[in-house]
Amino acid sequence: MKRSFEEEIKRRRTFGIISHPDAGKTTLTEKLLLFGGAIQEAGAVKSNKIKKGATSDFMEIERQRGISVATSVLAFDYQGVKINILDTPGHKDFAEDTYRTLTAVDSVIVVIDVAKGVEEQTEKLVQVCRMRKIPMLVFINKLDREGKDAFDLLDEVEQKLGLKVTPMSFPIGMGYEFKGIYNIWERNVRLFNNDNSRKLATETLQITDLSDPELEVHIGKTSAENLREELELTEGIYPEFDKEAYQKGDLQPVFFGSALNNFGVRELLDCFIEIAPMPRPKESNTRIVEPTEKKFTGFVFKIHANMDPKHRDRLAFIKIVSGTFERNKPYLHTRLGKNLKFSSPNAFFAEKKEIVDISYPGDIVGLHDTGNFKIGDTLTAGEKLEYKGIPSFSPEHFRYINNADPLKSKQLYKGIDQLMDEGVAQLFTLDFNGRKVIGTVGALQYEVIQYRLEHEYGAKCSYENLNVHKACWVVPKDEKSEEFKEFKRVKGKFLAKDKHDQLVFLADSPFSLQMTLEKYKNIDFHYSSEF
Ligand code: G4P
Repeated sequence: MKRSFEEEIKRRRTFGIISHPDAGKTTLTEKLLLFGGAIQEAGAVKSNKIKKGATSDFMEIERQRGISVATSVLAFDYQGVKINILDTPGHKDFAEDTYRTLTAVDSVIVVIDVAKGVEEQTEKLVQVCRMRKIPMLVFINKLDREGKDAFDLLDEVEQKLGLKVTPMSFPIGMGYEFKGIYNIWERNVRLFNNDNSRKLATETLQITDLSDPELEVHIGKTSAENLREELELTEGIYPEFDKEAYQKGDLQPVFFGSALNNFGVRELLDCFIEIAPMPRPKESNTRIVEPTEKKFTGFVFKIHANMDPKHRDRLAFIKIVSGTFERNKPYLHTRLGKNLKFSSPNAFFAEKKEIVDISYPGDIVGLHDTGNFKIGDTLTAGEKLEYKGIPSFSPEHFRYINNADPLKSKQLYKGIDQLMDEGVAQLFTLDFNGRKVIGTVGALQYEVIQYRLEHEYGAKCSYENLNVHKACWVVPKDEKSEEFKEFKRVKGKFLAKDKHDQLVFLADSPFSLQMTLEKYKNIDFHYSSEF
């Protein structure tokens, strides 16, 4: 079917699924792919989870890296809508990857385990989405198990995640007593039977009027009465769904279901394609760019090193913001000020990638790169603009990195450079002695870096502990002020440059950070590199 440029944009939904590990992200993704006809059977999507206890099993890490290329973008068509699911690693040590991916999504689905409620990783990720006003939809999973009361959970979501919710469906019982779901959005009841996992269940009961005695026949008197009461209560407590408020990030619709049993997933998907936003405009350093603009712009949000050590090229993932991206056309790499052409841009489908001639806003293309790209780089059809940087947050761990094989220092520095471009960790160079410090979100990254330096670059490194509590990006109100000069003199040993040559203060304790903030009132300290 031939579609116009505008139609192509309108039919795209690019989103990420976020959750605390084990809430059911992989299972839900798989069920969405099943509905899209992109896979034929359950179990086809491999989990990109780092299994517990695999911390030093590098074959496992390599295997996971392989899987995570394959599942980076899962694209499929559902009822004429082009869906792009961007994979986000659940492991907390890779949270930084997830933050970056969140710069490329137009909305997210948050998965919560009915028994565990809101967990730590969910809190952190939702906070980032809230800051960026990303539209969020909540899926409360595992209703086939005993869990928390629906109202308590909705409360918890509001309080812990700082969201304003409105239920779009409501569970009828739970665990052994789980009878099904009332779909507030479509006004019908779907009955639960344990067989749903084997087929795509379609058994729905149309209930236009809740007082319909049919309800008793199917779910029993007590459940029917409870449901009526609960629904009356929800109407009193929660605002009505408002698409505009949702798309602005001010209201979050909530669904209940069981991904494993394929229950409540179709409802989620059907509602999602109707309400979720099409590709959104994006702010650059010069102006806001609309997706419908004819000229291409896009940015790199992820870089993946080739798994084959003989081919050192990398795959840079570009989110298309505006216009069309075409094969073999020259595009301007605005940071380098040079034109680049790509003869084999990859588009991603469920589990496979293919060379494509043309891609639209909302799509992700993978470009083979021999070292031109860094995370956050912008490509355009000629306009000199840069998309606002992808923020770095303060790492949690800091260690000196030393060269353990003096004959291989060139390889070591090249390796460190490239791994930092990929966003594996952050590099700081101390002002007073030039020593290099690697900052990471999780301890696992140190092992990954050491392993990859050795296997991909033939270099060896060792680490040395460094006591840093937090990194803050430093911006004086006046560079020439006495106060700033004094700060640099007194804190000299704790100052470093990040990879963009921005000044960073490495505070050694919460106390010293607090004292510094209080003392130097004319210096701004930022907790992320985007300010
Ligand atoms: P994640 O990607 O968010 O980390 O979670 P994943 O989908 O891997 O699910 C974590 C576990 O929860 C899996 O069990 C999965 O089968 C189970 N699960 C997911 N959805 C539901 C649900 O609706 N109901 C129930 N009862 N369980 C659910 P596992 O035993 O850890 O793994 P597996 O051996 O089944 O793959």
